[in-house]
Amino acid sequence: MAPIIQSTQQWVEKYRPKQVKDVAHQEEVVRVLTNTLETGSCPHMLFYGPPGTGKTTTALAIAHQLFGPELYKSRVLELNASDDRGINVVRTKIKDFAAVAVGTNQRKNGYPCPPYKIIVLDEADSMTEDAQACFRECAEAYNGNLL
Ligand SMILES: Nc1ncnc2c1ncn2[C@@H]1O[C@H](COP(=O)(O)OP(=O)(O)OP(=O)(O)O)[C@@H](O)[C@H]1O
Ligand SMILES: [Mg+2]
Repeated sequence: MAPIIQSTQQWVEKYRPKQVKDVAHQEEVVRVLTNTLETGSCPHMLFYGPPGTGKTTTALAIAHQLFGPELYKSRVLELNASDDRGINVVRTKIKDFAAVAVGTNQRKNGYPCPPYKIIVLDEADSMTEDAQACFRECAEAYNGNLL
């Protein structure tokens, strides 16, 4: 009998597309984001749809493709469902992240590295109302740094 191979990686992570072009059945989204990769210009985005249709996958893929592994940590803040979604998180994590400006546009190691940061608010519908209002203020105040 073949030995059972223990895998520490879930299939949902193992087979998650790493590139925007590999996201299936979302032609419009892929087209817009391919343009973002070419021009560096990225609109504010709200992904909605049924579970398991690629919202998280697409957000993470575009963020990785824009900045690459070296800059990813300093340019992308990921907040997911396991993070607290109250107003304190916006006041601390998000504000601190948004307040620090980034340098000018400079392609690095083949990645576009445009001069802004990205916050991925996964499961954003679970943010409290206070937190949403605070986030809006923050996004307006740091408009130049943030996406
Ligand atoms: N459009 C897609 N193209 C290719 N693979 C996909 C697509 N949508 C989902 N998948 C696969 O399903 C898994 C789950 O997708 P993902 O986490 O992006 O869904 P989601 O829309 O964020 O769902 P939820 O609303 O539950 O957060 C991914 O790891 C990927 O393997
Ligand atoms: Mg998701």
